[in-house]
Amino acid sequence: MTQIVPSPSRVTGVTGVPDLPGWDATWRLARDGYAFGQRGFRDVGADAFRTRLLARPVVVARGAEAAHVFGEPDAFERRGAIPRSVVHLLQDEGSVQQLEGPRHGERKVLMLELAQGERAGLVEAFRDAWPEVVAEHGHGAVPAAEVAARALTRAALEWTGIRVDRGRETELSGELTEMIARAGSVGPLNWKARLRRRRTEAWARDVVRERRAAGDHETIAGRLAHHTEGGRPLDEDVAAVEMLNLLRPTVAVARFVAFAAHALHRHPDWASQTRGGDAAATRWTADEVRRFYPFFPMVGGIATEPFELHGEWFEEGQWMMLDLYGTDHSPELWERPDVFNPGRFATASPHAVVAQGVGEHLASHRCPGELATVDLLVETLQQLTQGPAYTVPEQDLRISLRRIPAEPEDGMILQFA
Ligand code: HEM
Repeated sequence: MTQIVPSPSRVTGVTGVPDLPGWDATWRLARDGYAFGQRGFRDVGADAFRTRLLARPVVVARGAEAAHVFGEPDAFERRGAIPRSVVHLLQDEGSVQQLEGPRHGERKVLMLELAQGERAGLVEAFRDAWPEVVAEHGHGAVPAAEVAARALTRAALEWTGIRVDRGRETELSGELTEMIARAGSVGPLNWKARLRRRRTEAWARDVVRERRAAGDHETIAGRLAHHTEGGRPLDEDVAAVEMLNLLRPTVAVARFVAFAAHALHRHPDWASQTRGGDAAATRWTADEVRRFYPFFPMVGGIATEPFELHGEWFEEGQWMMLDLYGTDHSPELWERPDVFNPGRFATASPHAVVAQGVGEHLASHRCPGELATVDLLVETLQQLTQGPAYTVPEQDLRISLRRIPAEPEDGMILQFA
């Protein structure tokens, strides 16, 4: 029999996972947004609690132990763990995120080869696209994320080898941005975005067909279109979904670009280190942007085997939400977590930042685009400090934690010279 060694809750020293007061906490999630976990942990005096979301029992947890448990290979499957309204706008059915075990591993190798292994080409394309898009925009005020989404769309298309005209590029940028913006909503806004996504999927299927017809095994789009599993090419729909799973999250980095501009504005000391060419300080700033600012609030999984958390055992089939924002702001893991301080990475490992998931890249669902995201943010910081000049006009720079996904109240407007 397995020996159960109780590990105490980090906050209270007591063993076990307490209940959050109240029968169901869906209303608290809607009210608190990113702070849902943190407020709950404070209320129960522990780093984990049991509650219900949409009447379904769930364990919500943050911190090193929870991240470790959740990131174990194949320990938590994603199917059925995230509302369909979110899945259909983000990873979608048939995608790598919905697979487990060897099938997940096989697809993940491909996604890592492309998103991680080929990331230098993406960053290079972004380096060219940023000043171009700024010049096309001309003088005047514009939200940072809008310029970034245009530049990232252009860069992602160039990187994957997909040719479209400027008109389609603009449309695509809007379509991909909307998928991310609406993933947190329910009802008509979400339905409208899902309907719009169908058109984008049809376009992506055309791209797959065309790359296959052209016998293209060279470009990223071509390699994805020709990828085989078990000796057979991917189903056309699945290849199209994975194509979007390279393009959409690349454009989502636009939200981090806006946060990077926010950070440089708020912390001129770190801006001048980047401007002065300090490569280490720039990389630390990129990682601190990922840790500090709110992006994905939580990830969910269904336990594939019994697991232990804080000295308590849970059954296979248990739904668990790992609080990413709460873990990145946990006082157990980070000194003065609510202070923006890139200098912490002089000693801290960037792998401890969980904004893009936990575990090891290949063996878990951790984001294959994580290193590409960091490199894109390093390039962003360089463009913002050494590229086209801008000023930051008077505006509301507050970021509400209630709205998912979060952004600065006035959109982090930049006024290009
Ligand atoms: C904006 C920055 C990004 C954020 C905040 C982000 C966040 C995440 C998170 C939290 C997960 C883990 C989901 C889970 O554990 O269930 C994930 C997975 C994934 N991400 Fe990202 N991501 C970003 C950028 C990217 C980029 C640039 C790419 C590709 C070019 C990418 C492709 C993927 C894919 C394919 C998965 C599924 C992996 C799997 O299930 O094994 N992401 N991402």
